[in-house]
Amino acid sequence: MKAKVAVLISGAGTNMAALLFASKLPSCPYEIVLVASNNSDAEGLKIAAAEGIPTFAMSHIGLDRAAHDAVMHEAIVEAGATYVALAGYMRILSTGFVAKWDGRMLNIHPSLLPKYKGLHTHQRAIDANDTVAGTSVHLVTAELDDGPVLGQIEVAILPSDTADTLADRVKMAEYQLYPKTLADFVARDSNPDI
Ligand code: GAR
Repeated sequence: MKAKVAVLISGAGTNMAALLFASKLPSCPYEIVLVASNNSDAEGLKIAAAEGIPTFAMSHIGLDRAAHDAVMHEAIVEAGATYVALAGYMRILSTGFVAKWDGRMLNIHPSLLPKYKGLHTHQRAIDANDTVAGTSVHLVTAELDDGPVLGQIEVAILPSDTADTLADRVKMAEYQLYPKTLADFVARDSNPDI
């Protein structure tokens, strides 16, 4: 049986789409059972709906963090998911929510963690004259962008790069990294001998 994954997004959802298309390969060990967002206008919700994936949206505006997380948690459980993949979900999570998904929630972050936690990762890498940027998939813990790293891909920085051109190239790496890392993670989880 395939592992059931809920993907949380806030915007374009292109990483969600990469996870989804990878899940269509017969050998993929996970399936996406829900795409949920704090933003009902998120472009990724339309992509998911068109692909026949159940979607859920609940704005965080007017709700405190724990209350909003509780609504999201409810929707995830309702969908039957046993894993959560954060994919451009631009919310800081409450400790209660993180604890409920301990060891079963992954995030993708556009830097070579532990470098450049938080926002504006590409500009910070360029400003630091780094020659290499990249992306990381990690387990989510209470500290922002701090959990154990499960996989990384390095991306060379060109002298001509702006934050936008670098972000576009890092995203291509993300589309390779996230589906493979999630697949390996759920497979290892269901068979510890792997
Ligand atoms: C991705 O590059 C992801 O790494 C980043 O947001 C983008 C979402 O794009 N995440 C973070 O910055 C989280 N701290 P997408 O909506 O097209 O997948």
